[in-house]
Amino acid sequence: MSEQTLIIVKPDAVKRNLAEEILSRFEKKGFTISKQKTLNFTTEMANEFYSAHSAKPFFDELVSFITSGEVVAAIIEGDNAVSRTREIIGHTNPKEASSGTIRGDFGISITENSIHASDSSESFDKEVDVIF
Ligand code: CMP
Repeated sequence: MSEQTLIIVKPDAVKRNLAEEILSRFEKKGFTISKQKTLNFTTEMANEFYSAHSAKPFFDELVSFITSGEVVAAIIEGDNAVSRTREIIGHTNPKEASSGTIRGDFGISITENSIHASDSSESFDKEVDVIF
């Protein structure tokens, strides 16, 4: 079933000029990028975007990092886009992510893990409203 998901290429990857290479991985897998934009998260946007994590001990670090520089946001469309995108990006912690996944290949740490992707269609609906 064709569906949409949202990815955010995070500041650590944008700084290393990896955004194009990361986006091309989705196109090579047959997905379409229907919207794309470069932006800086404000603290208010970050609080809303990551509200599910607001009680976590790493929340302040997460907000501080995502607001630290430019990000590239994109809507990815295709069959089973939510679950397949999660496979393509790999484990949250780059140290545990397989080689060949985006976080396995480019991630630096659990905070500087290069990319975010919606974990469900419900998360996509909420996240897309913050960004687009
Ligand atoms: P992301 O997919 O953007 O969604 C929430 C983020 O929180 C996640 O990527 C990680 O960067 C971060 N995160 C998750 N778990 C931890 C943790 N234990 N310590 C620090 N950051 C974390």
